[in-house]
Amino acid sequence: MGFKDKIDMKRLPRHIAIIMDGNGRWAKQRGLVRTVGHENGIVAVREVAEAAAELGIEYLTLYAFSVENWKRPQREVEILMKLLLKTIDSEMKTLKENDIRLLAIGNLISLQKKTYERLLWAIEETKNHKRMNLVLALSYSSHYEIVEAVKEIARKAKQNELSPEDINESVISNHLFTKGFPDPELLIRTSGEFRISNFLLWQLAYSEIYITPILWPDFRKENFYEAIVNFQKRERRFGKTSEQVSENANKMK
Ligand code: IPE
Ligand code: IPE
Ligand code: MG
Repeated sequence: MGFKDKIDMKRLPRHIAIIMDGNGRWAKQRGLVRTVGHENGIVAVREVAEAAAELGIEYLTLYAFSVENWKRPQREVEILMKLLLKTIDSEMKTLKENDIRLLAIGNLISLQKKTYERLLWAIEETKNHKRMNLVLALSYSSHYEIVEAVKEIARKAKQNELSPEDINESVISNHLFTKGFPDPELLIRTSGEFRISNFLLWQLAYSEIYITPILWPDFRKENFYEAIVNFQKRERRFGKTSEQVSENANKMK
């Protein structure tokens, strides 16, 4: 029995976020240049997007390029940007066939003009797709996102559109790029690194974290199902005691 059959379809997470890591190491292990790892990571993106859409996950957010990644060697950044442009075109078929809507979060305007325009085109092209939202985090960092949110809230306060006393958690959530998205219940990181790397710091406040040693280009549907099965075994307490949680679960039955 594969992991897919072990998934409880009634308790699926609504939102799964993934830090797709390990492309460089995957290539290095094979004596290849890092960028070959990035090219081979596209298959994993397609697999996971299809698997998530088939299951009925509402939001899948993929960390594809961080603000900090701009500091990588110029050649690698250029190839990554070109790959992004190429992938938007080549994967349009996957988005259409699976009724997936593409969205993006991050400092999008900092992307190369051609890539930025193609991204906007793909977002527009898929805006009526209903099955799943595929959110690409591009030139994204959580610190950047929070700074932008604070600036906008301060501007509103200055213009008397909002009073400082009215600022609460939902006001902050509603000024993040992820406005309207449920917070991810599950965060997956590949390549065995135990860190968040400036990803969705606010939104991940109570997410379950699943870390696998598998390098991103090797990640397949089965690995994704395994992460969900693992997630479903966890007890999510949200600060309460284990007894309170099981009492509540019994009442729901
Ligand atoms: C993740 O793989 C892809 C991006 C960050 C763009 P890496 O390129 O970080 O691969 P490693 O971590 O060096 O192996
Ligand atoms: C995080 O991976 C960013 C993406 C996956 C896009 P990195 O490889 O950049 O993270 P660090 O530098 O190891 O924390
Ligand atoms: Mg990395």
